[in-house]
Amino acid sequence: MKNKVSVIGAGRVGATAAQYIAEDELADVVMVDIVEGLPQGKSLDLLEAGPIRGFDSILSGSNDYKDTANSDIVVIAAGLARKPGMSREELLMKNSEIIKSITDKVVKESPNCIIIVVSNPLDVMTYLCWKLSGFSPKRVLGMAGTLDSARFRAFVAKELNVSVKDTQALVLGGHGDSMVPLPRYCTVCGIPITELIPKKRIDSIVERTRKAGGEIVDYLKTGSAYYSPGACAAEMVEVILKDKKRLLPCAAYLNGEYGLKDVYVGVPVILGASGAERIVEVDLTKEEKNALHASAEIVKKNIAKLGECV
Ligand code: LAC
Repeated sequence: MKNKVSVIGAGRVGATAAQYIAEDELADVVMVDIVEGLPQGKSLDLLEAGPIRGFDSILSGSNDYKDTANSDIVVIAAGLARKPGMSREELLMKNSEIIKSITDKVVKESPNCIIIVVSNPLDVMTYLCWKLSGFSPKRVLGMAGTLDSARFRAFVAKELNVSVKDTQALVLGGHGDSMVPLPRYCTVCGIPITELIPKKRIDSIVERTRKAGGEIVDYLKTGSAYYSPGACAAEMVEVILKDKKRLLPCAAYLNGEYGLKDVYVGVPVILGASGAERIVEVDLTKEEKNALHASAEIVKKNIAKLGECV
């Protein structure tokens, strides 16, 4: 039986995620948006790319959540994107209304699905979606750590002129400028980059990673990144559908891990068929732990701003 993935929000991130999911034949894809014609048009366009790109995934578009029924995974990419000068947190109120309007419909049609949230501010929207869903936190995850780590990997690979395939990285914390890239855990074929790149250069790569989303917003002016977020969402879909048990940084619900409770924040997670199967706790220096806690504190403050929605 073919898998079914629904992508809510047919904007640039949603459409790119749908494209990668279809191209890799991970599932049939249903795109949903409130704008009439948008998911229908984009999904048809992607379907028509199938013969050229050589995929048989079926794509369809709808404005009705009934068409998402019995999805294995639902990717929520709906919401406004940042404009230059805007922080992800400024989207909080607007996007929380959108997540509220989506979650119950998703849950009603696909009570057994796993939800991957991509909307910003990522950690807060994932918390809100989890709370409203009534799902086990294992089944509601946020896509951000994979993106932040992918950016870190891309910059390191470029710096050393080595393949991204051999470059691994770990970024913890909230998906904002307070995120915590960990150079000690960034390696090229197992060699920590602290042995390969001078500290000053590492510091500047870390800083660029923290601001990488904003760097793209500043270039695009009318929106935020979508190729890399779409690719990362598709990667999480693949790992879950194929029960790969890969260790990926994701926004996951913490219940005491890393000394944090009742918050979603980026941590290394073993992802498999049942979602976030295990959170892996790595040793952190005092400085790294403080940075993670400071980042989680920002997420918690923003969760508190949601007021009566949660
Ligand atoms: C970024 C946005 C999508 O990091 O959060 O590019």
